[in-house]
Amino acid sequence: MDKLAVYPGSFDPITNGHLDLVERALKIFDRIVIAIAVHPGKNPLFSLEERLDLIRKSLEGHPLQGRVRVDCFKGLLVDYVREVEAHGIVRGLRAVSDFEYEFQMALMNRKLNADIETLFLMTGMRWIYISSRLIKEVATSGGCVHGLVPEVVEKALLDRLGVKCARASC
Ligand code: PNS
Repeated sequence: MDKLAVYPGSFDPITNGHLDLVERALKIFDRIVIAIAVHPGKNPLFSLEERLDLIRKSLEGHPLQGRVRVDCFKGLLVDYVREVEAHGIVRGLRAVSDFEYEFQMALMNRKLNADIETLFLMTGMRWIYISSRLIKEVATSGGCVHGLVPEVVEKALLDRLGVKCARASC
């Protein structure tokens, strides 16, 4: 049977750490849906449409592209997982500091729907310190994020923030 997992998140914006996790998840699942949660109260740097577009463009030409779908959802994650008939949720763990937040979410999701399992995968060591929040913070202050995010994201960040990267070739 074709195994599908949902990889939910804010993806504001997608990083190379997220892409690394998708690759790892595809060793276990046949297909992944990267699903952006629509949070009405949040004020993201990139709009929902921009984030969807950046993820799709980041996957362009990737050998695993055909096994990944990009989508968004409103409301509860467990309801979305049921709606798309996925077999589970995947989330990345970087450090111990992620654990409490992830543990809480996984247990709440289990309380909401005991049939849905959350699977945690460890992000590759290269990306262990990366988060979307840190990427935005560094880029805002003119720091170079080259190699930490897909090139299309790097360009979008520089355009959005109106900054120039200090790297000679940027
Ligand atoms: O990338 P993030 O912001 O850490 O992802 C958090 C996300 C989107 C996975 C989480 O906020 C979520 O699942 N939101 C959907 C609403 C929901 O189901 N909340 C209850 C689960 S704790």
